[in-house]
Amino acid sequence: MKVLVIGNGGREHALAWKLKKSKSVDEIYMARGNGGTENFAKNIDIDPKDINELLEFAENKKIDLTVVGPEDPLCMGIVDAFNEKGLKIFGPNKECARFEKSKEFTKKFLEKYSIPTAKYKSFKNYEDAINGLIEFNYPLVVKADGLCLGKGVMICHEESEAEDALKKIFKDKIFGDEGSTVVIEEFLTGEEASVLCLVSNNKLFPLERAKDHKQIYDNNKGPNTGGVGTYSPVSVSPELEKNLEKIYRKIEDGLESEKLNYSGILFIGFMIEDDRPKVLEFNVRFGDPETEVLMPRLDSDLFEILNKTIDGKLKKEDIKWKEETCLTVILCSGGYPGSYEKDKEICGLDKVDEDIMVFHNGTKKTDSLYTNGGRVLSVTALGKDLKEAREKAYANAHRINFDGIYFRKDIGIK
Ligand code: AMP
Ligand code: GLY
Repeated sequence: MKVLVIGNGGREHALAWKLKKSKSVDEIYMARGNGGTENFAKNIDIDPKDINELLEFAENKKIDLTVVGPEDPLCMGIVDAFNEKGLKIFGPNKECARFEKSKEFTKKFLEKYSIPTAKYKSFKNYEDAINGLIEFNYPLVVKADGLCLGKGVMICHEESEAEDALKKIFKDKIFGDEGSTVVIEEFLTGEEASVLCLVSNNKLFPLERAKDHKQIYDNNKGPNTGGVGTYSPVSVSPELEKNLEKIYRKIEDGLESEKLNYSGILFIGFMIEDDRPKVLEFNVRFGDPETEVLMPRLDSDLFEILNKTIDGKLKKEDIKWKEETCLTVILCSGGYPGSYEKDKEICGLDKVDEDIMVFHNGTKKTDSLYTNGGRVLSVTALGKDLKEAREKAYANAHRINFDGIYFRKDIGIK
């Protein structure tokens, strides 16, 4: 079978790496892939947002399954376009991708189906939003409705900050049309956690938990990033598990009642306080770097699972996990998540132990391997417990080098 994976990060590298292990998969194409995927797949030079070109490629090559990594093509309707041509593709259709494309859409859904979430109001212009501030206490959260590369959320500690945030979105239009609606939200406290669910025919199948680390510095200090380290599994109290289950059932009921036909991944971001989870956001794709620790722990055939998900035939028993713990630490370019330089030569990958997986987040290969992003490499290890996985990942991370390399030293130290 031939598979096309769309995207070029560590998430897509990990998905392709796992697909390659399937007995059914012969060839993998990546659009565009990176310096790491080149070793076992064929990187093709098509922009993940160029749906027409991707469609043409999949038709010509007779691709049996396309797997979409990033949200943009999903929100643009790539799944609908492939389905129209009878091509098999993993991910939600355009209508369902609105759960990531529009925060207002998600908040309305959560409210309608009594799913715990922060109190909110949405606004379409500056004046109404300013007048609406009075209904909230500080801190409050101002969110641009659309896709803003993870920068659309502003936590405001006083009125002047909230006014400034609203001015930036509505008047300066820093997010363009993605900020034409704004959600103002109550600030939630607690611990953040996310759960990725496979969704087959509107039924949720939660994957094992993975703990992301968003801040760039040790002890969760510094600015937020896309995620710079993860481990899995994470233990969950029975009380929390019970409350999460209730939320999954309500989401399923909501999807059915709205006559949505959800298929793919639903990534649920939670804020949890005293075992009571509230939904912060939905994403409609795999998490990065969550996927880098979930794929090595997955004991089932990914190709089969994705096909069953699409066919609406997935069962809980289909998804099996290894007992081992998996941990990844992400090697970053100095300066990330602010400005950083690219094109630094990467050395030391030949010194990495054989049982270590190095997924490439942002690299490119020419005469040698070079950095090509803020997040560069995910050094990933399996171990009998968290301590062993951590020690293996860090021992190997220290063998890799490039100019300006930086990584957190405390992933997996609780
Ligand atoms: P989102 O894209 O909505 O998940 O927001 C990005 C980040 O902003 C989250 O991961 C949280 O750290 C923070 N955040 C978003 N909404 C809230 C909220 N209502 N209360 C506290 N923090 C929030
Ligand atoms: N790691 C967070 C995300 O993928 O959105």
